[in-house]
Amino acid sequence: MKTVFINCSPKKRFCASAYFLTLQRLFVGGEKVTETLRTPADHTRLLERLRDADTAVFCLPLYVDGIPSHVLRFLEEMEAFCRERSLSLRVYCVANNGFIEGRQNEPLMQVFEHFCVRAGLVWGGGVGIGGGVMLNVTRILFVVQIGLLLLNIALSAAHGSGLFPRESWISFGENVALLLFFNLGVLFYLARMGGCIRKGAPSGKKYTRIMLPSFVFILFADIFFVIISLFEGGLFRGWLARKS
Ligand SMILES: Cc1cc2nc3c(=O)[nH]c(=O)nc-3n(C[C@H](O)[C@H](O)[C@H](O)COP(=O)(O)O)c2cc1C
Repeated sequence: MKTVFINCSPKKRFCASAYFLTLQRLFVGGEKVTETLRTPADHTRLLERLRDADTAVFCLPLYVDGIPSHVLRFLEEMEAFCRERSLSLRVYCVANNGFIEGRQNEPLMQVFEHFCVRAGLVWGGGVGIGGGVMLNVTRILFVVQIGLLLLNIALSAAHGSGLFPRESWISFGENVALLLFFNLGVLFYLARMGGCIRKGAPSGKKYTRIMLPSFVFILFADIFFVIISLFEGGLFRGWLARKS
């Protein structure tokens, strides 16, 4: 069974779609191919990948309550491509949005459903994820936690106190458990959809979000965007962007 995972975020680095794509891949077996869809230059290569695929998994952001325009353009081409060749692959979708409610992805899912009907493809279902930006930050925090643990181990070893500084390991365990908790809904529904993809079964549309109360989310989101605006639009991505 060949599954093509398509990262449809127009961002080159640190996109939430890539994070969810990586998680979804973990729960799918067989031959797995990862592709990106950012510009029309990707269309021909992608369509060739889909020619002998059994399943396509679109991982994409929600833009203005709908599908990003560059993805719509690709779907138009894919519709003609699939109809001409009578392809019947299964289509699944992992959509994420910035606001907290994953259910905001419902119109996007409906577009995919209608696309499948028109293109003669099989709609497998999707997972809509709210708080995508914040969930994407949790993976960066996870790497920071590992870095801090390694630093503490190195310092402890340098002082001759061994490789297992108890406090550091406990603090690492607590923080990682918290980060995992925020991701619980996503992990559950992606694991569930992964099972359906493996069996070639319909998974339906499921919506989840970061496991955080809305009032806490709004507070952190406000602080996050104030800081980001001070850095002129990008913290992590801004630091690494090429300066002209
Ligand atoms: C042009 C644009 C429109 C967006 N529209 C919405 C929206 O309608 N609702 C929402 O919750 N988030 C919206 N967002 C936020 C994105 O869905 C969110 O940042 C997402 O995590 C980006 O995913 P990516 O990193 O994979 O590109 C929008 C972002 C952009 C740039």
